[in-house]
Amino acid sequence: MMNQDAFWLRPTSYWLPVHFPMSAWNTHAPFAAWLIDVLRPASVVELGTHMGFSCFTFAEAAARLGHPMIISALDSWQGDEHAGFYGEEVLESVRAIAERDYPGSVRLVRGWFSESRPLFEDASVDLLHIDGRHGYEDALEDYKAWRSVVRDGGVILFHDIEERDRGFGVWRLWEQLERQHSTFMFHHGHGLGVLAVGDVKVDALQRLFSADEASAERIRADFERLGAEADIRSRLAALPEELRHARLHAAQLEDKVAWFEREAEDLRASVSARDQRIQDLESSTSWRVTAPLRAAGRVLPRRD
Ligand SMILES: C[S@@+](CC[C@H](N)C(=O)[O-])C[C@H]1O[C@@H](n2cnc3c(N)ncnc32)[C@H](O)[C@@H]1O
Repeated sequence: MMNQDAFWLRPTSYWLPVHFPMSAWNTHAPFAAWLIDVLRPASVVELGTHMGFSCFTFAEAAARLGHPMIISALDSWQGDEHAGFYGEEVLESVRAIAERDYPGSVRLVRGWFSESRPLFEDASVDLLHIDGRHGYEDALEDYKAWRSVVRDGGVILFHDIEERDRGFGVWRLWEQLERQHSTFMFHHGHGLGVLAVGDVKVDALQRLFSADEASAERIRADFERLGAEADIRSRLAALPEELRHARLHAAQLEDKVAWFEREAEDLRASVSARDQRIQDLESSTSWRVTAPLRAAGRVLPRRD
């Protein structure tokens, strides 16, 4: 039976996505499904989709709930300093899943975030997920340019608010925003910030944003524990590809070993041919006749 006090533990909190492309976001899947359940957003915008993990997690939750939702997934699909730069195959794999499994709900928008901003009217979006470049200036620029698309009562998510090395600076923006808004934060999975835009209208979200420290700790601990399973599934999903790479690598190493063996065989053959030539030379008549001369050469002093 569901614990009525633990408002964050709904059946959706235990849901796992069906697609596990590589992602640093995977442990937030249970919270994402819970959020779609309680917020019931009609329109979601994601800044930074990469291989699609968070996007497909939101889309899958809406599909399972039978809730109509459009998620606009924005990306240059080129990569960046933190996510790494990548080729066209990433967008192709995202497109293949989107077209096959979420044709009516996932809309891929390729381009720079700033170019795509005019496509969205102010106050037209219920949930905005900011997960593009992670420098302070980048996150601030995305937040300033996009916060007005979110309607009153909507939510903005920020990923990587716990990353402080390698030029990550979302944490700085988050510290500023926390002082001015109703927020909730997760520490696990590189940190996920949840920010309320205007008045919070959903009861479960009001309870999340006003949770006392003891409840907040339980919420964090429960979603971290639930997220750990998503992480295990992600690793499992990655295994066939890793195995394929390992097999390829093993085959390349075997080719290399075979090449070295052939090389060693050729060298052994030329050494034995050379030994044979020396032996032939030493046993030849002229070699034996000139032996005293060579011996004298060894005894006589050199004249340099
Ligand atoms: C951290 S990844 C997104 C991860 C994704 N949310 C997930 O679940 O795995 C960031 C993505 O943002 C994209 N990106 C960064 N800055 C961008 C910008 N200004 N315009 C368009 N795309 C951008 C990169 O190409 C990269 O694919």
